[in-house]
Amino acid sequence: MPRQRSIALKLNGYTDLPLGKIATIVTYLEMRERPRLKRLPAQPGWALERLRDETARYRALFRSVGEDWLWFSRLHVTDAQLTATIGHPDVEAYALVIDGRDSGLLELDFRPEGECELAYFGVVPEAVGRGTGRRLMNEAVRRAFRRPIGRFFVHTCSLDHPNALPFYMRSGFTPYKRAIEVADDPRLRGALPLGAAPQVPVLGPLQTTKARQPVARPRKPIAKRPS
Ligand SMILES: CC(C)(COP(=O)(O)OP(=O)(O)OC[C@H]1O[C@@H](n2cnc3c(N)ncnc32)[C@H](O)[C@@H]1OP(=O)(O)O)[C@@H](O)C(=O)NCCC(=O)NCCS
Repeated sequence: MPRQRSIALKLNGYTDLPLGKIATIVTYLEMRERPRLKRLPAQPGWALERLRDETARYRALFRSVGEDWLWFSRLHVTDAQLTATIGHPDVEAYALVIDGRDSGLLELDFRPEGECELAYFGVVPEAVGRGTGRRLMNEAVRRAFRRPIGRFFVHTCSLDHPNALPFYMRSGFTPYKRAIEVADDPRLRGALPLGAAPQVPVLGPLQTTKARQPVARPRKPIAKRPS
């Protein structure tokens, strides 16, 4: 395949990016049958609530889970576009609610025929590293294989939480492809605060002088949902 080889050669080495761009390595993973799930004791006060048209709640959760990891894809969509997606009969979006607080996001997309994409998956920063991710993954697998699918797949990128890739592999997903993604830095477009994800410094034309010194912001507590 001479053409493929020349593309691969051009990719080797370093590639400078224009200021204002971010880049990430994306790993694609899949499983083709339902794995055995780790048995976990029942957890009182733990529930999944389906989100169909609650766009404000979805957006708040998306930000709480993803802001530290520069999740931006859902920030640009309109309410109508978001409702069309999460309200679609072949999409299941859930808020993980723990003791009345929205604490995680799970979105399963069954629109690819015979398959399911784990489209969004994560817990709020306060819940990371406490077993909540494993419990949520058990639910993701159960719900994905409740429909007759032959493949459950996901992608994660190097901007995501560093636990994500090994966590997915321990969950039974097998990596099969890697890609490079380049995008506009969402902080420079105003979609996320300049202080978000300080582990990835902002490099680019900042709009205001004040904005030149992005600092980590104190974390806002997640609002307790009225019961
Ligand atoms: C990726 C992510 C879900 C991983 O979750 P996590 O919090 O690191 O993982 P957990 O603490 O739930 O589980 C890790 C392991 O510790 C165990 N564990 C840790 N604390 C535990 C506790 N208090 N009780 C029971 N088990 C515990 C879990 O059982 C699990 O073991 P296993 O994998 O061998 O089954 C989480 O980091 C996250 O949501 N990150 C932010 C968003 C993100 O990056 N998402 C991925 C995008 S693709």
